[in-house]
Amino acid sequence: MAEAKSLGVVGSGQMGSGIAQLGAMHGLHVWLLDTDPAALYRANKSISSSLQRFVSKGQISQAACTEALGRLEYTSNMDELRSADFIVEAIVESEDVKKKLFIELDKITKSSAILASNTSSISITRLASATSRPCQVIGMHFMNPPPIMKLVEIVRGADTSDETFHATKALAERFHKTIICSQDYSGFIVNRILMPMINEAFFTLYTGVATKEDIDTGMKLGTNHPMGPLELADFIGLDVCLSIMKVLHAGLGDSKYAPCPLLVQYVDAGRVGRKCGVGVYDYRKGSEPIKA
Ligand code: NAI
Repeated sequence: MAEAKSLGVVGSGQMGSGIAQLGAMHGLHVWLLDTDPAALYRANKSISSSLQRFVSKGQISQAACTEALGRLEYTSNMDELRSADFIVEAIVESEDVKKKLFIELDKITKSSAILASNTSSISITRLASATSRPCQVIGMHFMNPPPIMKLVEIVRGADTSDETFHATKALAERFHKTIICSQDYSGFIVNRILMPMINEAFFTLYTGVATKEDIDTGMKLGTNHPMGPLELADFIGLDVCLSIMKVLHAGLGDSKYAPCPLLVQYVDAGRVGRKCGVGVYDYRKGSEPIKA
């Protein structure tokens, strides 16, 4: 398969904007699509400031930054993805919503295009089965934030072809990422292990074992994690964490994966983390967590 020259990214939230930025930084023409114009506006601002940070750190030149910005197109019109060689979707973590998108992408994209999902946990095989090209559907799971984190977890669905796998691996390597490969089971590798830890941190808070600060400090200094689990949950988004726990619970059928009621309650209250200004911690008065 020829090297991808263009990339369509669907969903311009924290992951989609980072993936689009990576594509543009590595020479691909990129269409970044979102149904919400405000999300596209935010993505434009965050990509520009992220690229500018790369320039200030001497990691890319001002000319490379300008060229990358010039390769990006922002759109709400699905038809513009028609000529993309490779699509990565990074929309909301809902199987129904993603399936609808895959049906639509299957109809409008060229027949050779690969359809990848950045899903954290949802079955690639089931998303693929919504299309007429399951051999060209694959999981390409970036870590947050995509321009910085070194890992891409590649997930092959039941029918993913070797050709699709190699093209996806080549794209990740072009982005200078390290690849790990997972079978298509709920949560794959990273979230199968990470999310139960985050959920357990919520149970530790919920049952009054310790304060949020002590839970996070314990895991940072006690296990050498760069962020505590509650702080990390706020960074990922509590809505995303809850969706992943539900997928693990349903897919692996064990009560140990049941989401903590406190996590459910925070999401019900709209406290979904940093992206809305409040989650376990309150970020509205500054950029660092405020002590309770
Ligand atoms: P987000 O909430 O920041 O962004 C999602 C974006 O998708 C929003 O801008 C929304 O307007 C848009 N959207 C929703 N439905 C759409 C549709 N049908 N068509 C076009 N745009 C649509 O979410 P985030 O955190 O970027 O997550 C996106 C995906 O990436 C999810 O599948 C999530 O599980 C996965 N992921 C998230 C990570 C994280 O740390 N937040 C890490 C790795 C993967």
